[in-house]
Amino acid sequence: MPLKLACARVDDRRVILRIKYASRFAYALSAAEIDAIVATSRRSNVRVGVTGVMLAFGGVFMQVLEGPPDVVSDLFLRIERDPRHRDVVILRRELAAVPLFGAWSMRLVELDAGARAQMRPARELIEAVAQGALPELERLREIEDLVWTAGARGVASRRAG
Ligand SMILES: Cc1cc2nc3c(=O)[nH]c(=O)nc-3n(C[C@H](O)[C@H](O)[C@H](O)COP(=O)(O)O)c2cc1C
Repeated sequence: MPLKLACARVDDRRVILRIKYASRFAYALSAAEIDAIVATSRRSNVRVGVTGVMLAFGGVFMQVLEGPPDVVSDLFLRIERDPRHRDVVILRRELAAVPLFGAWSMRLVELDAGARAQMRPARELIEAVAQGALPELERLREIEDLVWTAGARGVASRRAG
């Protein structure tokens, strides 16, 4: 019995899977449609222990999903097939011990005209990529740290997740 408990404890160690991806809007999504995606995501993510942030700007989505590996893998497969976006490109896929966005079931990072100075390079690159060809979506790797760090600090975000 003690041995079994010890094993269970090891298995319980919370290794999480983190997937960071970028995609393009499939069509001109309104702010209300994006808000609806975020609202549904929050409700569902809370239930299954997924956290993360999402950026929607210039026709481009960038999202971090993190949580139990099986759950995040399944969720990503569903998201990938969602007809509201296309050209889904994984920027990074990693295992981690601690979630970066543990407090947010899904936080929306906003990069509107009033975005803080440190977010401007991200805006500019997303705008450039948004007008370019598909492979360029991968250039968003260059700015992802900036975006996620700003997301984590709550910079340019209008509400908590
Ligand atoms: C850009 C984008 C991000 C999404 N993020 C999430 C998310 O974090 N969690 C979630 O449950 N659904 C998310 N969705 C919605 C899913 O794609 C899907 O609609 C939802 O999981 C319901 O799936 P079902 O209809 O197969 O049950 C997202 C959709 C899009 C377009």
